[in-house]
Formats: sequence, C-alpha cells, structure tokens
Amino acid sequence: MAEKQKVCVTGAGGFIASWLVKFLLSRGYTVHGTVRDPCDEKNDHLRKLDNAAKNLKLFKADLFDYEGLFSAIDGCSGVFHIASPVPFEGEELIKPALTGTKNVLEACTETKVQKVVVVSSIAAVVYNPKWPQDVAKDEDCWSDTQYLHSLEGYWPYYYLAKTLTEREALEWRKRNFAEVVTLCPSVTIGPRLQSRLNSSSLGLLKFIKGGIKSLLSDQLYLVDVRDVADALLLVYENREAKGRYICNSHSLHIDSLMEKLKNMYPKRNFPESFTEVKEKEVRPLSAEKLKNLGWKFRPLEETIDDSVVSFEVAGDLPKA
Ligand SMILES: NC(=O)c1ccc[n+]([C@@H]2O[C@H](COP(=O)([O-])OP(=O)(O)OC[C@H]3O[C@@H](n4cnc5c(N)ncnc54)[C@H](OP(=O)(O)O)[C@@H]3O)[C@@H](O)[C@H]2O)c1
Repeated sequence: MAEKQKVCVTGAGGFIASWLVKFLLSRGYTVHGTVRDPCDEKNDHLRKLDNAAKNLKLFKADLFDYEGLFSAIDGCSGVFHIASPVPFEGEELIKPALTGTKNVLEACTETKVQKVVVVSSIAAVVYNPKWPQDVAKDEDCWSDTQYLHSLEGYWPYYYLAKTLTEREALEWRKRNFAEVVTLCPSVTIGPRLQSRLNSSSLGLLKFIKGGIKSLLSDQLYLVDVRDVADALLLVYENREAKGRYICNSHSLHIDSLMEKLKNMYPKRNFPESFTEVKEKEVRPLSAEKLKNLGWKFRPLEETIDDSVVSFEVAGDLPKA
C-alpha cells in the first residue's frame, strides 16, 4: 500500500471519532489522536485497533490546551476536529467548544495544515423558524441563534455551541490557506467501540428501555456512526468537497421508530406511547449534497440491530 498521510483526530476516544480512527488506520493513515488523558482506561480500545501499535500516537490535550493541540497537529497534513462537549446535563459547553475550535484552527494555521474537517451537527442547521415549512432544509439553512436563546433547558446551549463553532470554522476558511469542510451529522447511533456510553447512544438505550416519555421534538433524524465516519473520510479525501454537508440518512416520526422497534423485537417491552405528540409530519432535511459526492448509508434496521447487539454485549441491555 502506498504511504498515506499523517492526520490528527481531536477527541479520538469518543463515539464517532473512534470509528474514524479505526477506518483511517485500516486505510494506512498515521493518526495523531488527542485525548484528555492517554492513561485513562476509557481510551484502551484505541490501542487495540488494527495497525494502532504502529500508526496511532495519542497526545494529551484539553480543548483549552493550545500547546497540547499544537503538538498533536504539528506535522499533519489534515485535521479532523471532533472533540466537543456533548451534554449529559447542564454543563458549560459554549466556551470549551468555541475556544477549542479557535485553538485547533490557529494551530492548523501555524503548522500549515492543508485540510480541516470540523464535525458540526444538524443542531446548527434545523432550528430556524423562518425556513419555509414545506421546503427541505439544506446547507443554506442555519439555526437562528436568537431563537435558540429563547428556548428553555440545557440542550439549546449545545445547539448554540455547534452553530457558533461551525460559523467560526467557515469564517476562518475565508481568511486562511487551508480548506475547511464541515459535516453536520444528525443523531448518531450504532455499535460503539468505546466502553463508556456517549450521549446519543444513551438516548437510544433509554428509548429502548422505556426511560423516555417525551422529547423536545417528535421528528427524528438518524444516521449510523459508521456512515458518519465514512462521510468524514469522503469529504476529507475528495478535493471537490467544499463548505458544509448535512449527514442524515433517516427522517422519521418518533411513532414510526417505536413501531419499527416493536416489529423488530416483539419480545421486548416498549412504552405504549409518548406523552406528548406535537407534530405528525416530519419536516424534510436534505443530504443530497453529500450523496452527490458519493455517500451511501445503511438501512435503519441494520443500525438498530447492531446497536442492540452492542448494548447487549456491553451489559447495558439484557438479552430478550
Ligand atoms: N452523537 C451524535 O448524535 C452527534 C450528532 C451530531 C454531531 N455530533 C458531534 O460529534 C462529535 C463527537 O460526539 P460523540 O457523539 O462522538 O460524543 P462523545 O463520545 O462524547 O465524544 C466527544 C469527545 O469530545 C471530547 N471532549 C469533550 N470536552 C472536551 C474538552 N474540554 N477537551 C478535550 N476533549 C473534550 C470527549 O473527550 P472525553 O472522552 O475525555 O470526555 C470526547 O472524546 C461532537 O463534536 C458532537 O457535537 C454528535
């Protein structure tokens, strides 16, 4: 195999990043992964990946730690910036997300990185009440920060963090040499490589176990974690990739997901119904730009089934 480049992945031990690191190593890349604590056993799975012994180096770096990020990025031709606080509860996450993104982009400028892929979210796309209801939201649609400020709870802070950091990354592109592409995944589920539960996997687990009675929205947008990792590689390797990309495979109503789960697992007990059903129609969200680049995704049943097996193997869910 021809020698591949050296790339940096921030937050390498996380749910999405771990799959990306796995795919990068399998394709012959050398990977510099940043983690907050390389000695923490929660990152052990990274060292067990194929080719990790030879081609993976872990660097200690918090998002506030410019020197740590710089050391990991120095010598790399590309960077995948994935680290970002994802809420479990009301924690401060705008500051680390924004400072971290600025630190990563600054280090990329100093070290002359050629391409940066920043993981944003559909949270930076969909919260726009002015967008016409019958028109599919696409990459031209941005979440309205004023509207987000008006929402209650801690999740809107996460949506704000993703919107502000993605804007920062694309603005930075205009002033600098490196190409910047952003990827906006929808709610990401699927089998996990890391031992600890991440926020979106916990959401699906609670849904299956019956621990969720209502959601902020009953419109669901879902994508498989392996398809997100594929998309990250695609936008990185494809020279035509420009700007932002929505990465969503399945748009469905919460009731449809419940029906699907009941059909797939007739022996499991699911909640009868949700306490609040606000809207019956699912508003369209377009992933055409990414599909036009060649992106393909798995059927939802495969993602759900692999997630359930992953929960069972980890002991999160009893076998039915
Ligand atoms: N999962 C989804 O549904 C979804 C959807 C759209 C976008 N995203 C985005 O995808 C990215 C990865 O999320 P994920 O789902 O894979 O969740 P995750 O497993 O919780 O990954 C988040 C990563 O960020 C790191 N991190 C958080 N705060 C940090 C800090 N102050 N300094 C350094 N590292 C920090 C975490 O490190 P520790 O392990 O040390 O905490 C972890 O590696 C995030 O940018 C998220 O916004 C996720």
